[in-house]
Amino acid sequence: MKMVQPMTYRVLSLLPFLFFLHIQLLPTGATTTYNVVTLGAKGDGKSDSTMPFLSAWDSACGSDHPATVYVPLGTYLLGKTMFSGPCKNGDITFRIDGTLVAPSDYRVLGNAANWLIFDRVSGVSVYGGTLDGQGTGLWTCKRSGQNCPTGATTLESSNSNNIFVSGLTSHNSQMFHIVINNCNNVKVQGAKVSASRISPNTDGIHVSSSSGVMILNSRIGTGDDCISIGPGTTNLWIQNIACGPGHGISIGSLGKDLNEAGVQNVTVNTVTFTGTKNGVRIKTWAKPSSAFVRGVLFQHATMVNVQNPIIISQNYCPDNKNCPRQVSGVRISDVTYQDIHGSSATEVAVEFDCSKEYPCNGITLEDVNLTYENKAAEASCVNAGGSASGLVKPSNCF
Ligand SMILES: *[C@@H]1O[C@H](CO)[C@@H](O)[C@H](O)[C@H]1NC(C)=O
Ligand SMILES: *[C@@H]1O[C@H](CO)[C@@H](O)[C@H](O)[C@H]1NC(C)=O
Repeated sequence: MKMVQPMTYRVLSLLPFLFFLHIQLLPTGATTTYNVVTLGAKGDGKSDSTMPFLSAWDSACGSDHPATVYVPLGTYLLGKTMFSGPCKNGDITFRIDGTLVAPSDYRVLGNAANWLIFDRVSGVSVYGGTLDGQGTGLWTCKRSGQNCPTGATTLESSNSNNIFVSGLTSHNSQMFHIVINNCNNVKVQGAKVSASRISPNTDGIHVSSSSGVMILNSRIGTGDDCISIGPGTTNLWIQNIACGPGHGISIGSLGKDLNEAGVQNVTVNTVTFTGTKNGVRIKTWAKPSSAFVRGVLFQHATMVNVQNPIIISQNYCPDNKNCPRQVSGVRISDVTYQDIHGSSATEVAVEFDCSKEYPCNGITLEDVNLTYENKAAEASCVNAGGSASGLVKPSNCF
């Protein structure tokens, strides 16, 4: 009995100190988590969860320390959802264990340019997650030649910096799956993108007006370009991609507008193209334009039965409208193809069809070995200048 009093006293006297320790020892990276289910989202695939997602975002965005938006397992129906900044917080994480689905009736998103968008944010990371754009209805409408809405990009990041997307799965987008527009320093890794080979305009990843974008370790198969690169893209790095089905990796279409920014410093490294329409392509309109393409390296590509493994085409003019003399103003220079091998599905495996006013120059072919039906393939070169080194098959260009 006599010992109890002093012991109790001792413990109690330690409390303020323990409390102080607790505060001090909170890790500095401590993050507040906003669970969308706690905020009212329902993972039943039927209840509209747009508002709970937005309220999680608003809390994270308004927080002055690191914050996480957590999406547990389940299927969440979301309408058009804008995660907008600017935010107080430069460290926001989305951790997605569940699946986000778009409305199955494509008329709901209609002509909304995008379904999910991060706009004017800095320092956002997205881990995991499956996005289902439910595009099949719209594709059917478009293919039947009816008057259909344009549809929505599944996930867009625009006017933003320091974005990291890891392990995202996106299928059946109505339009493009992922768009990176007017951003700096974006890394997408481990993405899985899929849509039917006959789905119109379902590009995997589209980059435009952006600098410092990396796309790594991803598997993309759609009805359009696996990766498309638009005007104003600089310092782009693409590595370790499996592409197909689809239209390949394309710089372009460029030169649609008279005043247009160029594309500079693009590296495409280690890609396997399987059954695609194109491998590595540069495509421009046959119209006057200030745009250019310079400093491109296509390196270590394997072609498996690809229709146009290496192609530059500067004669794009659908419906032959507004293309005076069918001449492209886009200047293409300093493009290197290095270690490109495999099989072409057509006889012409290398095609350079350049502008008659601004011939392509500084095209380099190095260690290229493309075959057609186990025989040598052909090359077709118009208005293109450059050099070949190492083994180059087909070899009749330079
Ligand atoms: C080209 O882009 C890469 C990133 O893809 C970057 O590391 C490099 O510094 C850029 N080169 C120039 C000359 O800007
Ligand atoms: C070029 O590729 C073909 C088919 O893959 C192969 O049989 C041939 O040996 C290659 N040529 C060289 C010189 O590597």
